[in-house]
Amino acid sequence: MDRTIAEIIREILTRLREARSRQPALRALIEVRLAGLSADEEVLGLLARALGRGPGELRRIASWLTDVLDSTGPRSLHRCVSVSCGAKGAADFWAEFGPCLERAGLGREVVPVHCLGQCEQGPSLALGERVYTAGADLVVVDDRPWRESPFSQES
Ligand code: FES
Repeated sequence: MDRTIAEIIREILTRLREARSRQPALRALIEVRLAGLSADEEVLGLLARALGRGPGELRRIASWLTDVLDSTGPRSLHRCVSVSCGAKGAADFWAEFGPCLERAGLGREVVPVHCLGQCEQGPSLALGERVYTAGADLVVVDDRPWRESPFSQES
């Protein structure tokens, strides 16, 4: 008998609890994708309740993740490797999530940058003006009108 969506979500959440993931929302949404489920309202509602999060927060992460993995545009994924994010575990974060994103189908270039303006909630990953902040397990919009493009570490 096929497993129900609720059973698959329960299994994913059990694995994340056992792994003591520090970014359960992003990790769960990647696992949902790897399980062949779409992050529809039912799935987002189940995850939001189980994680004690707002459905809007999950929806924003799911939308960001879809764009990171599916968009065909030339934009890079910017990964902050600067001091604050480094002190908050950027290397460990990327060691966990880089392979997860690869398995989920990441095809875009990942560019190390010096800062994405979200130092307090880093480590940070940005696609355009939307930044995933691993410290908060949230996607925020960097809408500072004066911000400059991230300063790449590569030429
Ligand atoms: S040091 Fe990473 S966002 Fe500022």
